[in-house]
Amino acid sequence: MALAEFVAELAGLLDDAEKAFAAAGDAQALEAARIEFLGAKSGRLKNVQKGLAGVDKDDKPAAGKRFNEVKEAIATAFEAAKERVERARTAVAGRRGSEQFDPTLPGRPVRLGHLHLLTQTIEDLKEIMGRLGFTAASGPEIEDEWHNFQALNIPPAHPARDPLENFYLATAGAATGSGPLLLRTQTSTVQIRVMEQTPPPVRIISLGRVYRPDTADATHYPMFHQIEGLLIDRHATMADLKSVLRLFAKSYFGGDGHIRFRPSFFPFTEPSVEVDMSWNERWIEMGGAGMVDPNVLAAVGYDPEEVSGFAFGLGVERVCARRYGVTDIREFYKNDVRFLEQF
Ligand code: PHE
Repeated sequence: MALAEFVAELAGLLDDAEKAFAAAGDAQALEAARIEFLGAKSGRLKNVQKGLAGVDKDDKPAAGKRFNEVKEAIATAFEAAKERVERARTAVAGRRGSEQFDPTLPGRPVRLGHLHLLTQTIEDLKEIMGRLGFTAASGPEIEDEWHNFQALNIPPAHPARDPLENFYLATAGAATGSGPLLLRTQTSTVQIRVMEQTPPPVRIISLGRVYRPDTADATHYPMFHQIEGLLIDRHATMADLKSVLRLFAKSYFGGDGHIRFRPSFFPFTEPSVEVDMSWNERWIEMGGAGMVDPNVLAAVGYDPEEVSGFAFGLGVERVCARRYGVTDIREFYKNDVRFLEQF
């Protein structure tokens, strides 16, 4: 046989082998191709090798060299195909979680989350106060000094306006001409916003975030939530305030909820009280309340001779922590699923 003929045969063989290995889609098909080309007894490579004997004597070294190169190339093509098939198999197995895919097994349930405990609490509080006729209102978290202080009867010299007690925004306000802006320190701002827009009677709650530069510890955090209530009507009294808070405590904590007032001071209420709630025989301070100060009513354009009202502000984290036995307020904000999934 002439060298050229032998070399052409080798070339055809390599071409066929590479195509067959590349086309093999799984281990079984690849094994069949391996036997066809590389089979020890009657593989096609073996058959071509037999032809080497018939090559002219002078051409034998060249033919042998070429044969070895093709043999190597076929082996390489086979190894590559083997790796590819193996990789595909483990990828599929990995996706299915096991080597065998059993389509009769039940599917894996998707892990469902749920509302954050504070969000649940806010919804509960809205629901309870809704039953008492209070509609939810909201206001901005970035406030001007009028709504956070001035209209609430907190004069410029009041210690609550100390820049160290507030998160003032460095740049905002100057551009819009609204004066300094700050993160609201209390939801009482919403009282003002609602009364400015609505003639009496008013019966609202407002729930949301408030911000104070407190160092975080078990009972303090620079951001927390308040629920604010406001009722304005003719002849609203402190007894109404107490009834509403008592009903609130009973509904939220269950039959054992009691409340207690302690005299206090807020610039925007007169008289003012601290509100304690008892649950499981312990008193805990939940916030402040009082009769809306006539100066506040006048600031929003109401006639203090015509209408009166009460307001209260409670800490959402406080009532929630009390009810669910949460001992560290920081747990609410850590986003640790082990904590959150308990509720
Ligand atoms: N705004 C007060 C606070 O944040 C609470 C309060 C609200 C007191 C309404 C009286 C009336 O401490």
